[in-house]
Amino acid sequence: MPKTGTALEMLDQPLLKEETFSLLTPPYLQHLKTDGVTVCWITNKPAFSHVEYWLTDAPQDVKIQHTVRDGMVLANNTINKIRLPDLEPGQSYSYRVVSKEIIEFKAYSKTFGPTLTSETFSFHTIDPTSKTAALLVMNDVHDRPDSFAVLEGLYGSRAYQEVLLNGDTFDYQTGEQQLIDHLIKPCAAIFASNKPFMLMRGNHETRGDFAYALGKYFENIDDNAYFAFTRGPVFFVALDTGEDKADDADAYHGMAKFDEFREKQAVWLKTVLESAEAKKARYRVVLMHIPPYHSGDWHGTMHCRKVFGPVLANGHVDMVISGHTHRYGVHQAQEDHPYPIIIGGGPKEGQRTIVKVEANEDGLEAQLILETKDIVDRVLLKPHQLLG
Ligand SMILES: [Fe+2]
Repeated sequence: MPKTGTALEMLDQPLLKEETFSLLTPPYLQHLKTDGVTVCWITNKPAFSHVEYWLTDAPQDVKIQHTVRDGMVLANNTINKIRLPDLEPGQSYSYRVVSKEIIEFKAYSKTFGPTLTSETFSFHTIDPTSKTAALLVMNDVHDRPDSFAVLEGLYGSRAYQEVLLNGDTFDYQTGEQQLIDHLIKPCAAIFASNKPFMLMRGNHETRGDFAYALGKYFENIDDNAYFAFTRGPVFFVALDTGEDKADDADAYHGMAKFDEFREKQAVWLKTVLESAEAKKARYRVVLMHIPPYHSGDWHGTMHCRKVFGPVLANGHVDMVISGHTHRYGVHQAQEDHPYPIIIGGGPKEGQRTIVKVEANEDGLEAQLILETKDIVDRVLLKPHQLLG
């Protein structure tokens, strides 16, 4: 006799169940500054959401923050990105996120479902008086979510302040589920609810129809694709090197304008390297997915060389950190590039690397660490004289 379920058993089958309201991700931090941070998370159904936060030392003083646009408090959404403003520099804050399901959103009435609250997490705002920097750089993860734990473990002390994903975290963009499964959840399980990551685009993040939606989920510093930030004695610049083929390549069907994008960045790069902030720094480090040298002769590399090469060479840049080639190594300073270029490894087991950057006023050390925990090579920089 064929086995048939009872009515009660049938109800337990997931297909028959109405999906319950849930947080699809833990909160993840973006755009950390001295005075603010952006808290992001995703719900499975439209909700009315906010962040509760407080100075860790003053838990009695809880503040609440929504996103407000032109007088309207943002609601009935699933992708949350809430900026916590007016924070004190160099302080520890605790926070949790709260989402209340909106079952029906009418002009004059709203029907709410359950309210969900995340665990409590904490973060530190940037201390502008800090004399140290600690950055964990990963590159070319290429849709391998298990790599994050392997790579993060290579840092050792866990004393990094932030993680910079230096391009090609994905093969191409397919949708929200990919972002959740291949980046947000694995990173939140390790660090991203307490320390932010910066998602720099490589040539692969520009591909796939969902590439247009990335900005809804992530927010880099100054909410820009390329940006600069000071951590302790280090002035970091992160560039978006765009696609690897010429804009008129068949693959892009006329939808690529990366030459002018890189040219615009080169003008900006010259300006930021001449800024008072850069001149005050003891070290200047540039992060860019496609290295301008040692990266073949495709258009992306050659155009990066053409537009960024002279600016980097004349801009007192101390080091460039890249990925892209899947061939890890350190290329010491030479005539073409009077600064060392570190290139991180590829996504395959045995080829995965991180770049561990730590600096104080006496020196900067960048270690290229293979997943075997061997230090492949390192760059040591002495602080140069202040230029300002
Ligand atoms: Fe790449």
